[in-house]
Amino acid sequence: MSSNNINLYRNNIEYYLFHYKKVDEGRLGCVQFIEVTLTYLSWLKKQKSLASEYGFTQSCTDEFGRFLYTLIGQVKGNILEIGTGLGVSTSWIVSSMSANSSNLISIDNQQDYVGAIKPLFTQYNVEFIVADWKEIINKGPFDFVFADAADAKSTYAQELFKLLKVGGVLIMDDLTPEEYWPAEWRGKRDVVRDYWLNHPKLAATEILLTPQQAVIIASKLEE
Ligand SMILES: C[S@@+](CC[C@H](N)C(=O)[O-])C[C@H]1O[C@@H](n2cnc3c(N)ncnc32)[C@H](O)[C@@H]1O
Repeated sequence: MSSNNINLYRNNIEYYLFHYKKVDEGRLGCVQFIEVTLTYLSWLKKQKSLASEYGFTQSCTDEFGRFLYTLIGQVKGNILEIGTGLGVSTSWIVSSMSANSSNLISIDNQQDYVGAIKPLFTQYNVEFIVADWKEIINKGPFDFVFADAADAKSTYAQELFKLLKVGGVLIMDDLTPEEYWPAEWRGKRDVVRDYWLNHPKLAATEILLTPQQAVIIASKLEE
């Protein structure tokens, strides 16, 4: 078994154990447990192979997916995903999203990506939109925002800030820790960290998920 396969296997075992715990707590019956587990595994596989069919290399990592999945389990309300891609992060989100008290809007400006994945999510509370994310500002504010389109994190950070409800949580991945920065980044301003980690109306921090991958998580304190 390659080390990648061992990791995948270990992750899946952890996932099984997590749901067994739910069975113990009486939250899921055994049949439901098996259904949830199989759905989860086949989804992620399906999304990943679709992404590779399209030559799409920007899907979130498993480490980030599991982090997102954990956070979403706590959320009640309106969730926004900016940058659907080929639906890998969408799969993680809907895997732990409350069916009764949450809903997801996922937006991407690429019609072919959204068209390819939309049929896979029909039984979930997800609205897919093909547009530039700034066109749906009137649908906000949101309780939870996963910002995964480059211009949302940097150029239009103020617009993104406005999309978040007071008390809401925003998350962004794909941050490179400084020791792994390429030479051309050094000595330049880091606009993403400058804005999101120093905003007076946000409580925010950076978390290292793996040695080479960091995320920012921020909660909005006031308008
Ligand atoms: C990093 S990928 C998303 C990957 C996906 N969230 C995942 O983890 O599986 C970024 C996506 O944002 C989309 N995008 C880029 N700029 C955008 C914009 N201004 N409005 C909407 N979508 C945009 C791209 O088409 C691309 O699919």
